[in-house]
Amino acid sequence: MRHDDAVAALSTLPSAGLVAGSTPVEEMARLRAALGGGPRLLVKRDDALPFGFGGNKVRKLDLVAAHARSEGADTLLTVGGLQSNHARATAATAARLGLRCVLVLNGARPDRPTGNTLLDGLLGAEIEYVSSRAERAPAMQAAADRLRAQGRRPFEIPLGASTPLGAIAYARAVAELVAQVPAPDVIVHATSSGGTQAGLLAGCTLLDLPTRVLGISADDPAPVLQEVVAALVSGIDVALGGAGRLSAAAPRADVDDSFVGEGYGIPTPASREALELAARTEALFLDSTYTAKAMAGLMAHVRAGRFRSDETVLFWHTGGQVGLLA
Ligand SMILES: Cc1ncc(COP(=O)(O)O)c(C=O)c1O
Repeated sequence: MRHDDAVAALSTLPSAGLVAGSTPVEEMARLRAALGGGPRLLVKRDDALPFGFGGNKVRKLDLVAAHARSEGADTLLTVGGLQSNHARATAATAARLGLRCVLVLNGARPDRPTGNTLLDGLLGAEIEYVSSRAERAPAMQAAADRLRAQGRRPFEIPLGASTPLGAIAYARAVAELVAQVPAPDVIVHATSSGGTQAGLLAGCTLLDLPTRVLGISADDPAPVLQEVVAALVSGIDVALGGAGRLSAAAPRADVDDSFVGEGYGIPTPASREALELAARTEALFLDSTYTAKAMAGLMAHVRAGRFRSDETVLFWHTGGQVGLLA
């Protein structure tokens, strides 16, 4: 059953104007042929979002930054790794909205910044380096306290902007997709902080689509991500005034954690193959940390015959290509 009130609520959320129009949906016929046939393959090109080198964080920040602005924020703060796509997208958002930006990144200050850190600097973000992931959140809080003591209005954005509001951006994106093409049988995408998957799952549930959402983990074990996604879906439910209906209707997240390999950001033979094959058949640029592992998952499932040939499988490209140039 469609959840019409929640669907209506989706379209009225204030946005910062970073996402104009729809990203393309393209056929991947040459990749399909290279895999020896199988389901029809489509790609949703969020890597090609025109703002700030694109990627899934642009959609999330479009809503989160609008909220920050409505609270009177003058500075956006966030955390990530040295080559964080989310940090770069946050720096770009701050620049576009005339806000200041503080990024807390774990890793050593590079002598010669590359990829996302090069862009962070160009965008005018202040970068604070910490040595471990565990130090990021306390360092962000300390930076926010310092700014408040100086009379500024900081707004802290958690890792990946994976708050219920950030995740809602992907529920909206599902509505965008089905205005372009019939609902695919399966959506395959990279999952890490869970926001994208929670939004996709919520969107498919709210619109009562028959689509299965398969997240390929870049990092955490499946049961951990399933819990994170469930919590975000219930947060989306509250934010949209669904009174528990969305949480009750949404299936448990489908997460495949068998493509992580040795760990976050470490390429695998399958991810290297996926990176090359996507480039050589479709001129699609993936990244080693997220999208190449997700594409490796899609390719393995196709080759193993896990999708029927009359099905349509859509790869939701979540960006990250800047990291290739690091
Ligand atoms: C390129 C790319 N794809 C996928 C993801 C995962 O998205 P999410 O954090 O919403 O699970 C990220 C973010 O971490 C990313 O940068």
